Amino acid sequence: MELLNGLKERRSIRKYQEEEISIADIEKIVDVARYAPTWKNTQTARYNLVLNKETIVRIADEAVMDNEWNQNIIKGLSALVIQTTVDKRSGYERDGSFTTSKGTHWQSYDAGLSGEAFCLAAHEFGYGTLIMGIFDEAKIKEIVSIPEGESVSALIAIGHANEEPSVPKRKEVSDLLRVIE
Ligand SMILES: Cc1cc2nc3c(=O)[nH]c(=O)nc-3n(C[C@H](O)[C@H](O)[C@H](O)COP(=O)(O)O)c2cc1C
Repeated sequence: MELLNGLKERRSIRKYQEEEISIADIEKIVDVARYAPTWKNTQTARYNLVLNKETIVRIADEAVMDNEWNQNIIKGLSALVIQTTVDKRSGYERDGSFTTSKGTHWQSYDAGLSGEAFCLAAHEFGYGTLIMGIFDEAKIKEIVSIPEGESVSALIAIGHANEEPSVPKRKEVSDLLRVIE
């Protein structure tokens, strides 16, 4: 099945071709990502596409907590997506109180589901992606204009792969699945 193959074959890509990214292709990817499930269908994930090379390099230099590994990856990108999420919707009641004892947890949960859908759709359209969790949110917001009331959930590299990474080792099903009797 195509879906199952896609789920298993998608890899994190850390080396990319230098290229002009098609905005129309990214629109096709977001068109799929918007079908990810979300808390009460709140659909809070947003995709901020950065194509300006100077801005991409500035993010690498100033907004990833001097993490050299990620700095090198980001400097090689033609496109970087800043995934943001609208605050105070996912996991909240209309009066602003939390619905569950997990507090703000559901906002990240929804971001992750949407991010995975984004990466899988990108894979299907021939693009590689890499989700990056190391960033300084305040610095990102200094460099790129993000609407008030949104949080940065992840940085996502996107482009055509310039490497074919092997599959990082997975745990066995027996390590992951517990049948509760
Ligand atoms: C929330 C999250 C944060 C991640 N952050 C980074 C990162 O900062 N740098 C990096 O190189 N990879 C990062 N990764 C990629 C993981 O290392 C990768 O998904 C994992 O090793 C499995 O490899 P695969 O995606 O090719 O299956 C991140 C992945 C996730 C889901």
